[in-house]
Amino acid sequence: MKIESLKIENVGGISSLSLDSFDPNLNIICGENGIGKTNILDSIASLFSSYEPISISVKSGFEQGCIKSSVDGKVISRPIKKKYTNLTYKTWECVNDENANFNLLYLKVNRVFKYRRESSINSDPDVINRTTENAEGLDNDDIKQWFVSRYLHSAHVNNLTDVQQENIKLAISCFSLLDNKVTFCKTTTQNEIIVKTPTGEIYFELLSSGFRSILFILLGIIKEIEYRFQDNNVLASDFNGIILIDEIELHLHPEWQGKVCSVLTKTFPKAQFIISTHSPHVIQTAEANEVIALSGENGHLEKRTLDIAPHGFKGWTVEEILTDVMGMRDVRTEKYREVYTKFSRALDDNDIKAATEAHNELDKLLHPTYPLRALFKMQLDGLKG
Ligand SMILES: Nc1ncnc2c1ncn2[C@@H]1O[C@H](COP(=O)(O)OP(=O)(O)OP(=O)(O)O)[C@@H](O)[C@H]1O
Ligand SMILES: [Mg+2]
Repeated sequence: MKIESLKIENVGGISSLSLDSFDPNLNIICGENGIGKTNILDSIASLFSSYEPISISVKSGFEQGCIKSSVDGKVISRPIKKKYTNLTYKTWECVNDENANFNLLYLKVNRVFKYRRESSINSDPDVINRTTENAEGLDNDDIKQWFVSRYLHSAHVNNLTDVQQENIKLAISCFSLLDNKVTFCKTTTQNEIIVKTPTGEIYFELLSSGFRSILFILLGIIKEIEYRFQDNNVLASDFNGIILIDEIELHLHPEWQGKVCSVLTKTFPKAQFIISTHSPHVIQTAEANEVIALSGENGHLEKRTLDIAPHGFKGWTVEEILTDVMGMRDVRTEKYREVYTKFSRALDDNDIKAATEAHNELDKLLHPTYPLRALFKMQLDGLKG
């Protein structure tokens, strides 16, 4: 299942938006705070959910909004109705069961799991109702249950199907994808998952927030695919549905932000990712057709046309992405601007004293190897004669 286009009218803060093409593998949505990135992901998720979503509402002041999309050549749409009447929340309503779709997985921003004691390992949950979570995102509380259960069974011949064996192997490899010094070690008789790290063997819940965030995504996806496709045995690496992830960079150091998309697309090569980000490091790894940079006013949004190199953003600096793609007006601080303006004004006015003072300030502000340092020094020396 792949999305080809999307149209949103009067949903959340969005008055109008039309996206005519999506990449079949990776789509990275960026834009300023509050522009509507999460509204877009929520809207897509709600198309595949049997319940009226809680997280999005019709645009304030309107009676009805609409989400429409072309998916695998077929147009699907959903009206979004007014939910608040005199500030009272209307009951959660089942709109249409046919909308529920197993092929959509949504990871919202809350993804750092806490320690959870598992006194017993239960049987697999019922498949029914798993898609009601579609619009609200996966909570992934059951990652530990799934992993421990599968790992224990994997030691016994024929307990797991071949697909389940492959899926647990993939899950084990996920522990080391961003840093190969961390590896899965074992499970214990208390149903704990132990990982080997450079500082010792620890419960997996004690890993850093960045690691937990990535495991929440990767193990959460594999677990969910297995639970949803119990009957037809889908290999996680063969999953060809849609995976939505809000703010992919959460808790990740810039170096990992620059790796995370390739980890996702290599682990799930047939899926269509639609993710949002505020990270120039994520965008830096993108191909030309993978970035949806939003702009617009009063909720009338559009995808900006960017002057992109044939190989995308891989040769661009982070500063170039911040200004040209993410719309940042200035990558320098106000303080720098103020001192620099003082310096150039003093040069224009031939004011040696003011220029020397401003130059001394610049000297303390700039990076030690900033290329324009030499030019500023030459300009000051020239003024002094
Ligand atoms: N029903 C509504 N009517 C009007 N505006 C709304 C409604 N629901 C949400 N909004 C507004 O829509 C805007 C878009 O929100 P959204 O959460 O999608 O932004 P975002 O791009 O994800 O921002 P961030 O990067 O901060 O997460 C918000 O500014 C919010 O105030
Ligand atoms: Mg958001």
